[in-house]
Amino acid sequence: MPVYILGIESSCDDTSAAVLHETTMLSNVIANQQVHKDFGGVVPELASRAHQQNIIPVIDKALRNANVRKEQLSAIAFTRGPGLLGSLLVGTSFAKAMSLGLGIPLVEVNHLQAHILSHFIQTPGDIKTVPEFPFLCLTVSGGHTQLVMVKDYFHMEIIGATIDDAAGEAFDKAAKILGLDYPGGPLVDKYAREGNPAAFKFSKPVMPGLDYSFSGLKTSFLYFLRDQLIEDPEFITKHLNDLCASIQSAIVETLMVKLIKASKETGIRQVAIAGGVSANSGLRQAILSMHEKQGWEVFIPEFQFTTDNAAMIGIAGYFKYCKGEFADQSAVPYSRGGI
Ligand code: KG4
Ligand code: ZN
Repeated sequence: MPVYILGIESSCDDTSAAVLHETTMLSNVIANQQVHKDFGGVVPELASRAHQQNIIPVIDKALRNANVRKEQLSAIAFTRGPGLLGSLLVGTSFAKAMSLGLGIPLVEVNHLQAHILSHFIQTPGDIKTVPEFPFLCLTVSGGHTQLVMVKDYFHMEIIGATIDDAAGEAFDKAAKILGLDYPGGPLVDKYAREGNPAAFKFSKPVMPGLDYSFSGLKTSFLYFLRDQLIEDPEFITKHLNDLCASIQSAIVETLMVKLIKASKETGIRQVAIAGGVSANSGLRQAILSMHEKQGWEVFIPEFQFTTDNAAMIGIAGYFKYCKGEFADQSAVPYSRGGI
């Protein structure tokens, strides 16, 4: 019997559903929530409501795009956490009801493990090389920045993490200071392409071990601009590209220093990146260059698997399904927690 997994993701502000045939993705539908744009960040209450509106059409479309009937599904995988509780409740409740209605197993997935396991998703007609265990993964998103030693599909050890802001937050906060829309990470990336990364220097954090800190960088950026704007109120408009390139370079360099340190300390040279910030062109370039500089085998995700998506929930669900690790109807979402 072929195994078909339906993955459901609703941890933050993207409602997503995907169908996988074993490790091959057949569909991956994502509904972004535009309602948060005017608020400069995700409003949890609005996110839950939007998930409630989106979930049926998104799942319906995922099944149709995959050309799979719901009766053919082998299991339903859903994000149990971490994330916004109200948002998670929508996906969790829907997954439970659907598994009960269809009489098929329910599989719970940790969102952060799923970001990492997205490296194992195959797309039809394009067989890609997947990492071998153990490998290192830098997970960088709007909520997390973690250096993870991945020993097996579900045996992962966090060897470094941020003590304050996540890398995505650092991008978004810098963008906000520059007056750009939320989420600003992709916009900083866009303007940075036309700018000079060495134009401005900001004080970078010095953290012990493999941990990160981004709040100092944000403050240094804020104070620098405050001083410049007193001299010239048009400073941001005149130097937007250079400012974006310089702050991006500072964030990427901070991320890379610890990743290189982790590779040296563990002796692991298979290195991956995952999460929303892994879409950043500066970070992608920096890690790709490590192939030459450090002899790393580098894994960067396809763009569609960088930000939140359900294909990554589907792949994690598939591996758990193979192990016979199922959840039951008493599973409740969790907002916090590691891997
Ligand atoms: O993984 P994700 O979709 O959601 C979380 O689990 O947080 O990550 C979203 C984060 C946001 O902070 C967004 O600004 C950032 O990823 N992001 C980027 C880029 N694309 C998304 N940051 C920098 N450059 C990008 N191209
Ligand atoms: Zn995420």
